[in-house]
Amino acid sequence: MRIGLLTGGGDCPGLNAAIRAVVRRAYELGHQVLGFLEGWRGPIENLTKPLTPDSVSGILHVGGTILGSSRTNPAKIPNGYEKILENLRKNELDALIVIGGEDTLSVAAELHNRGFKTIGIPKTIDNDVYGTDYCIGFFSAVTYVADAIDRLHTTAWSHRRVIVVEVMGREAGWLTLYGGLAGGADWIMIPEVQPSLDELVAHVKRRYDSGKRFSIVAVAEGVKIPEIENKVKVEERDAFGHVRLEKKGIAMRIADYLKEQGFEARHVVLGHVQRGGSPVVFDRLLGTRFGVAAVDALQGGKSGIMVGLQGISIVEVPLTEVREKSPRLVPQELWELTRVFY
Ligand code: F6P
Repeated sequence: MRIGLLTGGGDCPGLNAAIRAVVRRAYELGHQVLGFLEGWRGPIENLTKPLTPDSVSGILHVGGTILGSSRTNPAKIPNGYEKILENLRKNELDALIVIGGEDTLSVAAELHNRGFKTIGIPKTIDNDVYGTDYCIGFFSAVTYVADAIDRLHTTAWSHRRVIVVEVMGREAGWLTLYGGLAGGADWIMIPEVQPSLDELVAHVKRRYDSGKRFSIVAVAEGVKIPEIENKVKVEERDAFGHVRLEKKGIAMRIADYLKEQGFEARHVVLGHVQRGGSPVVFDRLLGTRFGVAAVDALQGGKSGIMVGLQGISIVEVPLTEVREKSPRLVPQELWELTRVFY
C-alpha cells in the first residue's frame, strides 16, 4: 500500500511519536508513507513530504509535528473535498491516516463516506474526542498545567493573593480538572458545570477567614459566566467556526470581579505553552501504540475507524460515531472529586 499521513488542528506533544510509529510499522510491513504538510491544506494544495524510517529518526521526543498543522476546513474551500480526492489519486495513495481532534477527524469521516480508505488517530490537549479515554498530547499538557499551578502557589502565598489561571479547553474541562486536581487548585471551573461567581467569592472568603493566605482558581477558557458573557463579544473565529477564546479573557475578567469584591487578585493565561515542549512518557507510548494500531487496521482491511484507548486496550471506533458523539465531556463523578479538596 501507499499510505498518506497528515496532522491537523492544534498541535501537541506526541504527534511525532505517532508519525514515527506509522512510518516504522508501515515500512516493516512493506508499505510506503507519504506525508501531507499543514493539515488539510496539504492534500488540497498537494504539499507533500515523503516519509521513510530514516526521515523519522530522532523525532520521538520532539514536540510539535514535523508535518506542520493548520485548521484548514475543506468544506470552506471551493471544491475542497474534490481537490483532496484528486491529489490522493494523483499520488497513487491507497489509504490515508489522519491524526487530529474532533474537527480534523470529522473531515476524515467524510472522506471515508466518499469512498476513500481512511483511519483516524485522536490527539488534542482538550482530551474531548469521543471513543478514547485519552488523546495524544493530553498528559503532556496536564503535566505543564500542574507544574504552573505548583509555581503559582508560592507567589500567591507570599502576596496573600488570589491567582486565577486560565487553562485551554473549549467545550470540555478535562485539562483544567486534571491539572487543577494534580496542582492542588483551590477552586476549579469547567465548561460542563454552570459556575457561580457568588460561590467562588464565598469560598475565597472562607479560606481567608480560616487563616489561609491565598487561593488558586483554575478556570477553563470555555467557561461561560452570564455576567461576563453579556459584556464581551468576540468576533474572531477559526475555519471551523470556533471563537478565539483567549480573546474573551475569562481569567482576567474573573480576577477583575474578585478585585471589585475587595480581594487582591491576579490572572495568568497559560495559552499555547500548554501545547509545547517534549511529550511526557505517556504521550510517547500512546502515540507509538496508536501509530502502529492505525497501520495494522489498514493491513486488516479496515476503513472509517479511529483507533482509541479504552482502559489499557486499543479499540476501533467508527469515525461517524466519533463525529456524532464528540466532544466527550467530563462526567459528573469525576467533577465531584473536586469538592473533596475545597
Ligand atoms: O484544540 C485545542 C486547543 O488547544 C483549544 O483548547 C484552544 O481553544 C485552541 O486549541 C486554540 O488553538 P489555535 O490558537 O491554535 O487556533
